[in-house]
Amino acid sequence: MNLNEKSLKQALSGKYFGHKLYYFTETGSTNDDAFSSGNEGAPEGTIVIADRQNQGKGRMQRLWHSPSGSNIYTSIILRPQIQLSKSSQIPILAGVAVAETLNSYCPDKVWLKWPNDVLIDGKKVCGILAQMKISTDEIDFIVMGIGINVNLNHEQFPQDIRDIATSLSIETGREVSRLELIISLYENLEKWYKHLLQNGFGPIREKWLKMTPMIGQTVQVIFKDEKIAGKATGLDEDGSLILLTTENKEIKVSAGDATILKR
Ligand code: BTN
Repeated sequence: MNLNEKSLKQALSGKYFGHKLYYFTETGSTNDDAFSSGNEGAPEGTIVIADRQNQGKGRMQRLWHSPSGSNIYTSIILRPQIQLSKSSQIPILAGVAVAETLNSYCPDKVWLKWPNDVLIDGKKVCGILAQMKISTDEIDFIVMGIGINVNLNHEQFPQDIRDIATSLSIETGREVSRLELIISLYENLEKWYKHLLQNGFGPIREKWLKMTPMIGQTVQVIFKDEKIAGKATGLDEDGSLILLTTENKEIKVSAGDATILKR
């Protein structure tokens, strides 16, 4: 079935995630739209979906390639009652939910790369961008933006990312229904979100650690002009990556781009 307002509203009606939904054939950025709605008081579970973004935002002020007719661009408003210091658990949770969803299309080929890239056979298939509004030292809301490359073929990727990005259709060899994917994505996201609120971060961290190839590897993290390297040993309670430096010093990294260094 096609991706449009009617099919989405029908599929998500009655669900907690998606009970309120905005669909655009074109927008600037679904994160910006969700952020404005959040500011206007939109409830938790409000979802924005677009067929195309003309200002799709990536992490670190990058652009997110967002052509029409082929991918998923979606953002959800969350209002978790958790401490501000634990807010980074939410994008980690989103990575786990996306990875679990994509794993049913490409069994045993989906990995997580800290902080929350989802890769298939080492190539990026999904990016997650979390943006937060804080009011008096508390989380007011978090916008969780998810972009998944679904039916793009190799030539449709911009040249500079062609060799490091992939799509579900490239990996499965068939066209994938965006509607079905969105339904299962939000089912998993809702499941892991409720899990976090009820049982804490432990089970999410466990699942994340199972799906990442980073632990035990020498990892380099670049943040602005800073470069830090060390052996990745775990994931902290606040979502930071724990590294052990060559001087045997344990450090926690909370932001940046991570790569496994080739030995
Ligand atoms: C990354 O750089 O890896 C994060 C990319 C996040 C892209 C998604 S697409 C839907 C939502 N709207 C945006 O403008 N960005 C996110």
